[in-house]
Amino acid sequence: MEGRTIKQIRFGVVGCSPIGFVHADAIDQISDAALSGVMDADYSRAELLSNNYTGANVYKDLQELLQSPDIDAVSLCLPHHLHYDFCKAAIEAGKHVLIEKPLALNVAQGEALVEAARKADVRLGVVFQNRVVPAVQQLKELLQANALGDIHLVDIRVKWYRDREYYKAAWRADPDKAGGGVLVTQAIHFLDLALYLIDAVKEVFCAVSTIRPWLQVEDLALGQLRFNNGIMGNMVCSTAINPEEPAILEIHGSPGSARIQENRGLVTFHLGNQQPYADAPNAHQDASVPSLVSSEGHSIVFKDFVASILEKRNPVIDGREALKTLYLIESLYRSSKKGQWIEVGGVQKR
Ligand SMILES: NC(=O)c1ccc[n+]([C@@H]2O[C@H](COP(=O)([O-])OP(=O)(O)OC[C@H]3O[C@@H](n4cnc5c(N)ncnc54)[C@H](O)[C@@H]3O)[C@@H](O)[C@H]2O)c1
Repeated sequence: MEGRTIKQIRFGVVGCSPIGFVHADAIDQISDAALSGVMDADYSRAELLSNNYTGANVYKDLQELLQSPDIDAVSLCLPHHLHYDFCKAAIEAGKHVLIEKPLALNVAQGEALVEAARKADVRLGVVFQNRVVPAVQQLKELLQANALGDIHLVDIRVKWYRDREYYKAAWRADPDKAGGGVLVTQAIHFLDLALYLIDAVKEVFCAVSTIRPWLQVEDLALGQLRFNNGIMGNMVCSTAINPEEPAILEIHGSPGSARIQENRGLVTFHLGNQQPYADAPNAHQDASVPSLVSSEGHSIVFKDFVASILEKRNPVIDGREALKTLYLIESLYRSSKKGQWIEVGGVQKR
């Protein structure tokens, strides 16, 4: 960056599926940032993305992109099994990294990435865009002001539908490559919200199953959570409910109840019987919603990430924050294998 008068963070987007387009759009909206390069194993996808942004070079592989002096930071939109290697390589090349959820395939990889970023003194951010949308921020403020009184129950219901076409991206159906099914790919957003809004989780009980015979990862997960503060939580998560319903996170207290509803790109928040508090267009991009190209939540996450680089501070959702869901999800899977309550360790206890 030396020698430039304008302090602009130049991004390389790696992985140019629809979510890569959302990242490029978010970068494009920030005056302190520019899309400088793109890369995808499928060269034509990278070319397609680059065509939309003047000056975005198409790199043939990761190393070429990482060695470029024109790249300050990378955003990674890749199958889960590639997160660790690509993120580590970028950190070792001295690039700041903003990576799509989950941080990595497992806790051990996640911890190693957090440590690598600390040592290299680069910023490591993770995209959990629902946390930062206005509706969720308003609810967080109300909870901090004790507006719902004593909380009794947290209820998470993710009843979505992902058809065979969705799992044609074969890594999504491969436990070794995706790290699991509905828990790690879809429900992770709502588990993250529960951790953010309520507290860390102390222990969990979970059962998973695979309803569709052609799938190798779970498409149904049922479970209970006991948060550190004693509050109990229930969850029903599936990608096999047809027709699907908006995903819901309800917080029941005395005297109030609140509901976060996520419906294909729209996050709303209801308090008691009142009208929705806020509508935040938050395009939830995946192969089943190809028409959506931008996301308010992603834009907010990118703005904070760019500011964190310029201000030499951690991003609001850094690697350590993202480790919380990895510990939680690993415990949910362990519980489902053992058929017993499992204590959640790591950052949940710190
Ligand atoms: N935050 C959200 O709401 C949200 C929504 C969708 C996906 N995601 C996350 O985005 C990531 C990508 O998921 P997806 O559904 O877009 O996957 P995808 O399979 O649709 O796209 C992955 C892209 O990576 C490319 N790729 C594969 N191997 C590569 C390699 N070795 N080098 C370079 N490029 C390679 C593929 O060609 C493809 O373009 C995942 O972490 C997923 O969880 C997040």
